[in-house]
Amino acid sequence: MEIFYLGHGCIQVNTLGKTLLFDPFITPNPLAKDIAIADLHPDYIILTHGHEDHVADAEAIAKNSGAKVIANFEIVTWYGQKGIDGHPMNHGGQWPFDFGTLKMVNALHSSVLPDGTYGGNPAGFVLSNSEGTIYLAGDTAVHQDMKLIPEFFTLDLAILPIGDNFTMGIAEAVLAAQFVQAGKVLGMHYDTFPYIEINKEEAIESFKSKGIELILLAIGSSTSLAQD
Ligand code: NI
Ligand code: MN
Repeated sequence: MEIFYLGHGCIQVNTLGKTLLFDPFITPNPLAKDIAIADLHPDYIILTHGHEDHVADAEAIAKNSGAKVIANFEIVTWYGQKGIDGHPMNHGGQWPFDFGTLKMVNALHSSVLPDGTYGGNPAGFVLSNSEGTIYLAGDTAVHQDMKLIPEFFTLDLAILPIGDNFTMGIAEAVLAAQFVQAGKVLGMHYDTFPYIEINKEEAIESFKSKGIELILLAIGSSTSLAQD
């Protein structure tokens, strides 16, 4: 399983011959100017919530690639009206896709689509297959329901927002990593806007002081789950 950071909350996962793209926000993100959405050919686009900074490029990429949108019922319905194929889910549910099992879990945030349509409740996802198990939290505060995740999954990696103001900051994200029992965290949702700029060295040290590795990737680069 290879995990690419495409800036902000946008993560591409290549696994079992499939390409998954979470929360595409690339063309409006000056930090991601070297990524061309025409070069992305996902099989699935997975959306955590309806905010513009998570769905901005979803329609264009879906139409270009034929990708299926996976999200909550409200978001999938909205894309369906644009002629985009989707798979609706809701919290607590999981489905055995051809890339592995995907479970929709709680996130503590808000959700509205770019035109003001109700966006349902925001979510995170746990992806599990023979190559590994990862939790992508979406935009969220730390919350007690995160403790349910290790009841069902042993995580190889948690992908957590760390930029503060709109989501968890570093201290909360360290606690979230402990709640989900992840020894390795990939940081996201930081530095895109002045409100969410972070000190990366301090962030890495904060996680390290609790025995957790924080990975911060350059936009366009990737990390692989170690095979053991
Ligand atoms: Ni958001
Ligand atoms: Mn966001």
